[in-house]
Amino acid sequence: MKNTVLTFQQAKKDHVKQTMLTAYDYSTAKLIDESGVNSILVGDSLGMVMLGYEDTLSVTMEDMIHHTAAVSRGAKNAMVVADMPFMSYECSVEEAVHNAGRLMKEGRANAVKLEGGVTVAPQIRAIVNAGIPVCAHIGMTPQSTNAFGGFKVQGKSAAAAQKILDDARAVQEAGAFAVVLECVPHALAKRITEELDITTIGIGAGPDCDGQVLVYQDMIAMFSGFTPKFTKTFANVGEVMKEGFRAYIEEVQNGTFPEVPTHTFKMDESILDELK
Ligand code: KIV
Repeated sequence: MKNTVLTFQQAKKDHVKQTMLTAYDYSTAKLIDESGVNSILVGDSLGMVMLGYEDTLSVTMEDMIHHTAAVSRGAKNAMVVADMPFMSYECSVEEAVHNAGRLMKEGRANAVKLEGGVTVAPQIRAIVNAGIPVCAHIGMTPQSTNAFGGFKVQGKSAAAAQKILDDARAVQEAGAFAVVLECVPHALAKRITEELDITTIGIGAGPDCDGQVLVYQDMIAMFSGFTPKFTKTFANVGEVMKEGFRAYIEEVQNGTFPEVPTHTFKMDESILDELK
């Protein structure tokens, strides 16, 4: 059955943990969907893990629509949440609603996600009023990496923790159905989760959030660029892929693959004599 915003609401009431993983293409989305995850995030992390940028800032609306449409075709039961890329919602409420609409119409997403709290509450309210579910994202928001001076844990001091709590309250008030808490101390995430009526989804926020999200390449060891402290290797897929690639190279080079007749097609070979 398709997961929707109602699944999130009910899960919070029933204290059932929500699972979310990123995906950026059809085949991976299909595998993740078939595994039974509740929602798939087409994160702008695609800039780093799929396109090789050093941060998420260069990701465009066109990139997001292209990848969201592919994921949506592969996700039968998981709710598809598409990230709004840097500078697609900050400048004006109108532009935010227009771009959220494009992710729904052209990307066939089921919801959008955007970074920020108090400052983007008007955008969240307007997008929700347009009939589009919004997942907020606060704490260490990667699109603000330059303002933070790097990908750093947020909310450790009293003032910083208060800001994150205020952001959480603001996004709930604006109508978000869920909020991602990224790289914040787990005690603060617990406090926010207990206070909010909407679902909290943690990434580097400890075990007390209502749900969890990870970048799929991080949790199956497919991305060797950088491994965050908060992730865990659930399967060594990167190594299995490399083993497969090496075996292929060896068999092609030593003539073991392709093999007749297993991998080949027959013809009446007397026809070859007729060729001029
Ligand atoms: O872009 C992304 O993958 C994200 C997650 C890290 C939450 O925003």
